[in-house]
Amino acid sequence: MCGIVGVLGNHEVSPIILNALKRLEYRGYDSAGIATVNDGRLDRRRAVGKLVNLSDLLVHEPLPGKAGIGHTRWATHGAPTVSNAHPHAAGPVMVVHNGIIENFRTLRAELAEDGVNFASDTDSEVIVQLTARHLGQGLGPVEAAHATLARLEGAFALVFLFEGEEDLLIGARRGSPLAVGLGDGEVYLGSDAIALAPMTDRIAYLEEGDMAVLRRGSVSVTDQAGRPVERQATRIQMDNYRVDKAGHRHFMAKEIAEQPAVLRGALEFHVRADDTLDLPEGVDFSETGRLVLVACGTAYLAAQVAKYWFEQIAGLPVECDIASEFRYRDPVLTPQDTAIFISQSGETADTLAALRHVQGRVARVLGVVNVPTSTIARESDVVLPIQAGPEIGVASTKAFTAQLQMLALLALKAGRDRGRLDAAGLAAHLQTLRSLPGFVAQALDRDGEIARIAARLSEATDVLFLGRGPMFPLALEAALKLKEITYIHAEGYASGELKHGPIALIEPDVPVVVMAPRDRLFDKTVSNMQEVLARQGPVVLISDHAGLAEAGAEAQHRLAMPTVPDLIAPMVYAIPAQLLAYHTAVQRGTDVDQPRNLAKSVTVE
Ligand code: G6P
Repeated sequence: MCGIVGVLGNHEVSPIILNALKRLEYRGYDSAGIATVNDGRLDRRRAVGKLVNLSDLLVHEPLPGKAGIGHTRWATHGAPTVSNAHPHAAGPVMVVHNGIIENFRTLRAELAEDGVNFASDTDSEVIVQLTARHLGQGLGPVEAAHATLARLEGAFALVFLFEGEEDLLIGARRGSPLAVGLGDGEVYLGSDAIALAPMTDRIAYLEEGDMAVLRRGSVSVTDQAGRPVERQATRIQMDNYRVDKAGHRHFMAKEIAEQPAVLRGALEFHVRADDTLDLPEGVDFSETGRLVLVACGTAYLAAQVAKYWFEQIAGLPVECDIASEFRYRDPVLTPQDTAIFISQSGETADTLAALRHVQGRVARVLGVVNVPTSTIARESDVVLPIQAGPEIGVASTKAFTAQLQMLALLALKAGRDRGRLDAAGLAAHLQTLRSLPGFVAQALDRDGEIARIAARLSEATDVLFLGRGPMFPLALEAALKLKEITYIHAEGYASGELKHGPIALIEPDVPVVVMAPRDRLFDKTVSNMQEVLARQGPVVLISDHAGLAEAGAEAQHRLAMPTVPDLIAPMVYAIPAQLLAYHTAVQRGTDVDQPRNLAKSVTVE
């Protein structure tokens, strides 16, 4: 979603802001803009499309100044056009905004009645128009910003820049994160630490409702109630915020390749050498009556896989929900429930709202997140970091397998807490998890073969994925990955459901990818595959060598995975799911890392 940057620097800021916006590109955007104040005067440049269009514009029409703000916009209200791009301007003030102003219609009507002519179709413009009105009534910048914030409803992060004020930025946070960076005689604001990492490693995160007044020599923060507060700056590990492709063509390729190392590191983080789990205090399922797992997108599919583990290993009833549905359907919650919210970014608006919905109504709220400073992390009773490192590709890959491994560990903990798993059983499962990085590496070695199968998929207009047991949600994830980055229509189905509808779609030009590890459901999945073959459907069978030898004769493509224990099969089979989508996208020439219309961190409903 939208990215925000603000800089009070000692040098020309346009190039610095442009560079910071580049580091925010991964969030997804469709237009961008920068404003500065120079010799007291505000000026801005805005362009539709990729940042290169904005940087070209800046070459022809430079934007001098040592104080400025920048924005990448992911359109919500109003098409991606120059006039809808940020920064928005009204008289002596400009603003960049991430999030949604929910009462913008009321505010727009009120301002229009006052004679305000709007220059854009955005909800954001009401912010700057309100501020200009307050300035016109004689308020100073800080008071005007404050008065404006009091009128806004919704979730947002904002930065204001004022005419005649070359040593002033005002930032505000409600719902969407905003970080303050402290440099050497310079100060910065950014949507996340990734944007600010090249400028400084000293970062303070604003809290809900905070307003920050930044000058080169001072940062003062007030809380929701207007009281002055301290927000401690911490030194971030710069290594964690390195944004490079490490020799890969795309971030997604790098992140897929990183998985053995990520899984190994995360396991070491959560498991002791003596085969006991090292999980935060408060992770205890002995009294849990039911688990409620809530997430969006790929994280939701990780929850669906985990449901099988919690049921099988711990005998725990599990409900899985899509956050946007859960929060609006009056879910029945009891004090015996434990709720787990899963989110890579920790900022997904629907997941966060669902979390707030259950607070105080369930025994405990666990947050399985990748960003430990995120809002979901902060608002959970217990935070379980998946330790995947920054994920830049919009389509989630390493975060998915790291979420799965974290959830598997929680299922083992639940098994222990509930007396369904003894110490030896736990040790055996942990041994299996220790073998996972090696198996994932073996799956990654099939890259060349997968690229050849992808050549076939890249010609298709529809692709079906089938699986049973935990391979069913994995089939959903494989289909989601494919549609996200290749724009090919893809569906995932439980193999057993094939005959109840999707079988009508089987045709010689609709590839059917069957994910069939040799588990107890193998024969049943193979029967469903036969139903496809009998109707001339071209099958890609993914199984181990024995499985392919037994059932693969008629399949058009066979892809061999290592023979793996059931527990880790979802993480291993995730690799061909990801690589199939990746190579198909590369062959179709789509934008792998920033697919159209998608955003990495979805901070609006
Ligand atoms: C977006 C991303 C997906 C992600 C989903 C949930 O749609 O494009 O890759 O799975 O949000 O994001 P979260 O950060 O909550 O895991």
